[in-house]
Amino acid sequence: MNILVRNGTIVSDGRSFGADIYTENGWIKEIGQKISQSADEVIDATGMYVMPGFIDTHTHFDLDLGVTITADNFDTGSKAAVIGGTTTVLDFATQDRGMTMQQALELWHKKARGSSCNYGFHMAVSEWNAEREAELDLMVEQGVTSFKMYMVYDSMKADDGQIYSALQAAAKRGCLIGVHCENYEVLQARIAELKAEGKTSPEYHAVSRPNDVEAEGIARLMRIARLAKTPAWVVHLSTREGLEEALRARARGQLVRLETCPQYFVLDDSAYLQKDAERFIMSPPLRKRADCDAILCAMAKGDIDFVGTDHCSFTMEQKALGQGDFWKVPNGGAGVQNRAELLYTYGVKTGMLTIEQMSSLLSENAAKIFGMYPERGRLATGCRADITVFDPNCKREISCKTNLHNCDNSPYEGVEVDGCARHVVLNGRLVVKNGALVEAGQGEFVFRKPGLEG
Ligand code: URP
Ligand code: ZN
Ligand code: ZN
Repeated sequence: MNILVRNGTIVSDGRSFGADIYTENGWIKEIGQKISQSADEVIDATGMYVMPGFIDTHTHFDLDLGVTITADNFDTGSKAAVIGGTTTVLDFATQDRGMTMQQALELWHKKARGSSCNYGFHMAVSEWNAEREAELDLMVEQGVTSFKMYMVYDSMKADDGQIYSALQAAAKRGCLIGVHCENYEVLQARIAELKAEGKTSPEYHAVSRPNDVEAEGIARLMRIARLAKTPAWVVHLSTREGLEEALRARARGQLVRLETCPQYFVLDDSAYLQKDAERFIMSPPLRKRADCDAILCAMAKGDIDFVGTDHCSFTMEQKALGQGDFWKVPNGGAGVQNRAELLYTYGVKTGMLTIEQMSSLLSENAAKIFGMYPERGRLATGCRADITVFDPNCKREISCKTNLHNCDNSPYEGVEVDGCARHVVLNGRLVVKNGALVEAGQGEFVFRKPGLEG
């Protein structure tokens, strides 16, 4: 299939310019002025931005928590992703205790079959030992070059020694480990205090894990990574204090990768007083407006590397499994469809970010850091034809009723946004045309290379 995207503003490699793009059989063949090739599909991108397909660095599709399974699987999650302009998700394959990483990887390949966007896997590790370490080379051989460890959650928690030795083993192979940074013991003690006081409603979720719970975890990770002499990657950064700890480590000369998510610059903890506030129960929790501002400023300064969604959706019926106790509510929210429009509205429209920064935060930086560049995350001759044509002129109100995710709630319900993915080219096929999904199931596995970008 051949596609010609005409008259748009191409945003790639930190610059913008007016040009046409011509793709052939999945690859970009030509970028230039007034390309005259005939094509199966011609897209008029006048007044629109033509960007490298967006990469979501953080999704949990078809994740089994034991008590329940996420509302979105790869079928529904990937459709929501691609209609929002995301051409690749990096989903967390999860090695549960008693399972090998290889088994988890095979299971995730099965789950992802028929995906409507491209997908790669980070491997979330629930137990670190010699056996897991021995599997790292096998993961790299199969294109999985990034991992996640958790300081919290009873079924996933790793101790500091395990994180230290895993960081060393991963870095030796050019792999990154993202860490969910929160202080488990303090958080358990605070939950026990709140429980004893009868404070069980959703607002106390945020009270149980205040900013210092995250900042302490980040400070600790920074010191562990320094001792291990490895890079560090903080997933879903949410606080000003956590940011300060990471910046302090960078000032010492450490290589630190920072990810944040729209919920940490769009929403704040006043949401916990709303109706159905269980839909905002996620970890880390929503923060104060001052934290949202700090995260936006950090993006503007280039201190944050990429924006993922941490899409981990549960219906209100699933959220009700908490039976009124905040610590029992399944953690997570839906967001995979809304990342670009939220970043555009809260970042670019407000003048905090340039359109080039938006492109870097949504695609280019992730492609570089996670071993997909320059095939993806870039628009140039010879790159993969994953292209998002972003229309800055549309306006809408986010609602779970119009989102494609399989969930009866959204943390962004009622939020008004500017901009939308008007057309999406995935592996050289026009899969979203004028805002509608016209071809499903075209996603491919993205095999990623190791190698730590300096
Ligand atoms: O609440 C969240 N974020 N759930 C998903 C798991 C995680 O910690 O990323
Ligand atoms: Zn996490
Ligand atoms: Zn997550």
